[in-house]
Amino acid sequence: MAIAIEKYSPEQLDPTVSVLADAFVTNPLHVSAFGPQRIDQNRLFFRIGLRHMFIGQAFVALVDGAVRGYVHFNPSPHCLPAPEEIPTAVATLLTPLGEAIPRVVKWFARWCHLDPDQPHVHLGPIGVSPKTQGKGVGTALMNRYIEHLDQERIAGYLETDRPENVEFYKRFGFVVQREEELIGTPTWYMWRARNQ
Ligand SMILES: CC(C)(COP(=O)(O)OP(=O)(O)OC[C@H]1O[C@@H](n2cnc3c(N)ncnc32)[C@H](O)[C@@H]1OP(=O)(O)O)[C@@H](O)C(=O)NCCC(=O)NCCS
Repeated sequence: MAIAIEKYSPEQLDPTVSVLADAFVTNPLHVSAFGPQRIDQNRLFFRIGLRHMFIGQAFVALVDGAVRGYVHFNPSPHCLPAPEEIPTAVATLLTPLGEAIPRVVKWFARWCHLDPDQPHVHLGPIGVSPKTQGKGVGTALMNRYIEHLDQERIAGYLETDRPENVEFYKRFGFVVQREEELIGTPTWYMWRARNQ
């Protein structure tokens, strides 16, 4: 299996929406926000995200030439919207999400509130097509992010809603900073100290 990591291009929007929606449709936060098996809502969410919100550095993983994974990371302090920007985002970007909006707002308002003051590069989203998971694609995408952290000598930060992901991120030097329930779902906040 040939894995290539390259910069994301907007021409890859459609396959990347599919990869992310398929990867995240069963994630607990997405199920809490959108409902079970809501691939339609996840596609909308990621289409909005890819076009308007994931404005840092983004890479895709190509497996035998096809998009099978995506990673985005963004430096603080503008890695997430400021809490006061959320109402505008809801009124403009997020309207297609309909009845899920209150839960999505609660979710992102909490993440914005907890975003650390210390300089960091924020990871997310990272996702791999379900059929391709467990074959090293996520590791290849993470390595691209870690390389950036080490080159810039900056800390890393992320949120996750799956216990198996906590173990995955620990392999890259992340430690759990906080754990709590958010919209009915356990959520972990993880930090990777900057390399001296
Ligand atoms: C988390 C994720 C990006 C990892 O990508 P991946 O390509 O499966 O990762 P790798 O193959 O490089 O490494 C998998 C390792 O992580 C662990 N892992 C975590 N989630 C896994 C999953 N869904 N399937 C297989 N392994 C998983 C395994 O322990 C595995 O270890 P191994 O190498 O000893 O088998 C991917 O599973 C995914 O897209 N999950 C759904 C979306 C998601 O949760 N994204 C992260 C949100 S914070």
